[in-house]
Amino acid sequence: MTMRCLIVVLLLFAISQRVASQPVGDSENGKILWLETEHVECRDCHGDNGEGGFGPDLAGRDLTRAQFIHAVRKPWGIMPAFAESQISDAELTDLIAYFDTLPGVDEPAPWRREVPAGASRGLAAATTTGCTQCHHPLFNNGRAVMGATNATFEWFIGIVYAHTAAYPPTRASLGEPPFERLAMGSFSPSRVPESMLRDMWTYITDLGFRPRLRGQLSAGVPSSDGVVYTLTVDNSGIEGIGLTAEDVTVTLVVPSGASVVAASGAGYQGISRDAEGNADVAVWKVPRMAAQYHETFTLTLSQAGTAENDLRGRIRWAVPEVTTAFVNIAPPAPPGAPAH
Ligand code: HEC
Ligand code: HEC
Repeated sequence: MTMRCLIVVLLLFAISQRVASQPVGDSENGKILWLETEHVECRDCHGDNGEGGFGPDLAGRDLTRAQFIHAVRKPWGIMPAFAESQISDAELTDLIAYFDTLPGVDEPAPWRREVPAGASRGLAAATTTGCTQCHHPLFNNGRAVMGATNATFEWFIGIVYAHTAAYPPTRASLGEPPFERLAMGSFSPSRVPESMLRDMWTYITDLGFRPRLRGQLSAGVPSSDGVVYTLTVDNSGIEGIGLTAEDVTVTLVVPSGASVVAASGAGYQGISRDAEGNADVAVWKVPRMAAQYHETFTLTLSQAGTAENDLRGRIRWAVPEVTTAFVNIAPPAPPGAPAH
């Protein structure tokens, strides 16, 4: 072998070693991770197909592994940082492989939510820092957690700046296991200063904390006189601390074609016509639902609803008076899904 030949062979070997030492992701895993995993909420900012939005487009960008991982762990700008415990380097490598299979976009998509005209300083701050891309401008779920824990500004700061550390104790105080993976990421105080959080806090407290009410419907169970639906309602606030809902109305929309055979549960009022929804509704009225309230209601229908037109409903309250003083009742889990 000539000297030149040897050098070429050695060079090729070195290059192949370099390529082999770079971990290569699994694009199929990456696709599932991006599209179907709840804890990966990057989509809210980068688009369902990496077409961009609040954050830049990622599809077909051919970013290197180092560039990609750096952007997630030590973001350049406003993006919240995600820790290894939230999304691992191996998972990020799979995402890179997935984006490499997608064609690039000609024009990145616009922000999903723009600053609304006439927005207060707090709402403008929550939009320009990306919070409302995930939380919706009304922060309904966030305000329910704040109502359940009677949150303070110090707690709020902890959630935003040190989400990974601050959130598990919050879940524990609500009597819930910590999420296995946390979806939000931690914002940097150098990008989102405390003065902006003060404005957001004013905006959120003006909307008002919500009592943390939840309603869950079971699937219909056939019985001798029809199909029985069970509705479980609870206030999952911390006992003695979480907000009480007063003057509560629970309604279930009767599917067309079915009639009500029987109903149970405290405060049943009968059927009335809901002019707004143009449907018959079964109505219950409950004076107070304090933190740790738990009640079961049943409704027996002459026949089951259909997949398109099944039983559904709402829980509304008059006190505390807040923006969006209702929650939608969760439909039955699809067969085979784990219990909630
Ligand atoms: C709140 C919105 C938001 C979320 C959530 C978010 N990003 Fe970003 N991302 C951005 C913005 C904005 C940038 C531009 C740089 C910056 O501001 O840090 C960015 C930049 C990036 C970049 C660099 C792109 C480039 O052009 O160099 C990558 C890679 C990235 N994000 C991946 C992710 C991944 C993966 C997740 C989820 C784990 C995620 N992002 C979650 C907003 C977001
Ligand atoms: C990528 C989506 C995303 C972005 C962006 C985001 N959050 Fe969150 N946030 C979540 C999720 C999901 C949770 C629930 C806990 C979890 O999964 O980490 C949460 C939890 C919270 C909570 C605790 C109450 C609750 O709802 O559980 C507060 C308060 C909060 N976020 C405020 C903010 C603020 C303020 C910003 C902007 C500075 C922001 N979030 C940006 C997704 C996001």
